[in-house]
Amino acid sequence: MCGITAYVGDDMAVPRVLASLKKLEYRGYDSSGIAFFENEKLNVVKSVGTIDRLEERICPREKQSHIAIGHTRWATHGKANEANAHPHLSQNKSVCVIHNGIIENYLSFKSKLTNINFYSQTDTEVFANMLDVCLNQDFSTQNVLKNLNELTKQIKGSYAFAILLSSCKNKIYFAKQKSPLILGIGKNFSMLCSDESALCEKTEKVIYLQDGDYGFIDKSQAQIFHSGKETKRKQFAFNFSANCVSKCGCEFFMEKEIKEGTQSVLATLENLQSINTRRLEREMKNSKKIFVVGCGTALHAGEVFKSVLEKECGLDVILDYASEFRYKKPNIGKDSLCIFISQSGETADTLASASFAKKKGAKCLAITNVQTSRITKICPYVLKTQAGVEVAVASTKAFMAQLAALYYLVLLFAKIYNKKITFSLKNILNLCKNGNNDENFEQIAKIAQLIKDEKSLFFVGRGLDYFMAKEGALKLKEVSYIHCEAFAGGELKHGSLSLIDENTFVVCLLTQKELINKMHANIIEMQSRGAKVILISPFCELKDKVFMFVEIRQAKSSLMPFVVSRPLQELAFLCAKEKGLNPDMPRNLAKSVTVE
Ligand code: M6R
Repeated sequence: MCGITAYVGDDMAVPRVLASLKKLEYRGYDSSGIAFFENEKLNVVKSVGTIDRLEERICPREKQSHIAIGHTRWATHGKANEANAHPHLSQNKSVCVIHNGIIENYLSFKSKLTNINFYSQTDTEVFANMLDVCLNQDFSTQNVLKNLNELTKQIKGSYAFAILLSSCKNKIYFAKQKSPLILGIGKNFSMLCSDESALCEKTEKVIYLQDGDYGFIDKSQAQIFHSGKETKRKQFAFNFSANCVSKCGCEFFMEKEIKEGTQSVLATLENLQSINTRRLEREMKNSKKIFVVGCGTALHAGEVFKSVLEKECGLDVILDYASEFRYKKPNIGKDSLCIFISQSGETADTLASASFAKKKGAKCLAITNVQTSRITKICPYVLKTQAGVEVAVASTKAFMAQLAALYYLVLLFAKIYNKKITFSLKNILNLCKNGNNDENFEQIAKIAQLIKDEKSLFFVGRGLDYFMAKEGALKLKEVSYIHCEAFAGGELKHGSLSLIDENTFVVCLLTQKELINKMHANIIEMQSRGAKVILISPFCELKDKVFMFVEIRQAKSSLMPFVVSRPLQELAFLCAKEKGLNPDMPRNLAKSVTVE
C-alpha cells in the first residue's frame, strides 16, 4: 500500500508534492511525510494522520524548494507514528528514502548494520542505511546507479523507491519492483508517482516504469536503466482531465459516488456493447471450468454472478477469495476461464492469483475500473467498467459497474449456449434509466439514526439477497465501525439464532418473490426472540409485520441486486455521517490493497 510522489522542476516542489499526496491518500492515510531542501539543507517533516495535518506543519518558507519527495503511509512495519512515517534518513542523514512495498528480507540486511542505531521499526530505514553504506561517501551519479542496481537485486519483496541525497539538490533517484511507479514529464519538470492520477496538471508525457527499472529524474530529463544498461521506455500522452475528480457539491466522495451508481451501470453497458467480444466468446465457449476470483466487494459482485449464471445458464462457477485461491492448488489449466474482478486492478492478492492462473495456462479475463492498472497487463482479456474514478475507500459505484459487466457476461454465456434466460440487456438498461432508487432517503436516514450506536448488527437474506446482505454488512462495518455479520436465512437455526435477543437489530433483505414465505418464516423466528427487523423489500404486504420497512422498486428477481445496492450503500454512508466519521477514509483501511 502507501503512496509515493516526487517532484523536481521550476515550480515550488512542496505544494506540488502535497497536492499529489492528497490524491494518493486512497492508498493509505495513517501518517505522511515530505523531504525537501531548505537553503542547502535536506529537511524532513512528518505527521500522523491525513495530509492536511502534514500541510499545517510546513511553514511558507519551506515551500520554496524546487525538489521534494512525499509519502502517505498505510502501516506495514511498525505502528502508525511519526518515527515510522516516511521519508527515512540514513544515520548520517546522507540518504533519504520513501518506499511503497515490503522488503521481506530486511532483517537479514539489518543484522549486517551493527553500527546503526535505528529510530524506526521500518524496512525502509534499513534500506536507506544499506544504500548509504554501499555508497561509501561516493555520491557520484555513476556510483549511486551502480549501487542501486546491485542492492535492489538483493531485495526479496516489492518496492517503489524515491531517493534524495543530501549532497544533490537536483536529482531524485528511483527503483521499482512489483510496486507501481509512474514517471511524468512536463516542461522543465519531472515527477514520480504511485499512480498517474497524482501527476500534476502540467504533465505532458507518462512513462509506466517496468519491474527492475531504476534511474533518476532531474528537471529536464529522466534516465532509466535496467540491469546495468540505459533503456528507453515508451512515452504516452497524459490526459489530466481524465483523472480529475471532484465531490460535485457533495460533502463526501462516498455520497457522490453512491449517486453515480446507476450512471456507471449505463456507461459500462454502453461501452461493452461497443467492443468486439468475439475472441472472448470463443474462449468462453471452449472453457470447461469457470473460476471467479477477487477480494471484498469485488468478490461479492462475483458471488452474485455465480448465482445468476448457475441459475440462468446452468453453468457451474468456482469462486474464491484471491488471498486463498492459489494456496489451494486449484485444478486449473488450458480448459479454464478465470475471471478476476478488481476495481483498482492493483490488489496484490488478485494480481498474484491472475499471474498464477496465467502460468497454469488458463484464459484470464480481468474486470477492472482502471485501464492502466497492472491487472490489464497480466490478463489478455479485459472488460473495463466505466464507473469513473472511485475515491472513497468503500466501493459503491464501482460495485454497480462490476455487476453490469458480470451480467453482460451472463448474457454472452446465454447467447453462446443458446439459453433462454429471465432478463435481457434492455431490462437492465430500463431499470437503471428509470430512476436512481433514492426515494427512500428519509426512511433510511431515520434507520441510520436509530442504529448508529449499536455494537452489533445482523444482515439476513436468502438466495441472491444473501450475497447482497454480505455486501450490505461489509459496507456498513467498513465505514461505521459497527460489527455487522450476514447470514443466510436458513442458516440461523444452526447456531447464530442464539445471538438474537430483544436488543438485536436485523436488516433483512427480501427481493426474491419465490422466497417470500421462507424468508417471512425466518423473520418470524427472529422476531419471536425479540429481534427488531428492518426489512428492505418491494413486497409491501410485509410492511406492518416488521419493526421498520424500506420499500424498494420491484424488478425481475434476477436483477434485484441493482435495486437493493443503493439503500444498503446509503445506510452505511448515513450511519458513518451520523457518527461524525469520515466515510471516505475509514480507519485502518486503504483504497488499494497493494500488499498480500
Ligand atoms: O480494487 P479492488 O476491487 O481489487 O478491491 C477489493 C477490495 O479491497 C474492496 O472491494 C474493498 O472490499 C472495499 N473497500 C469494500 O468497500
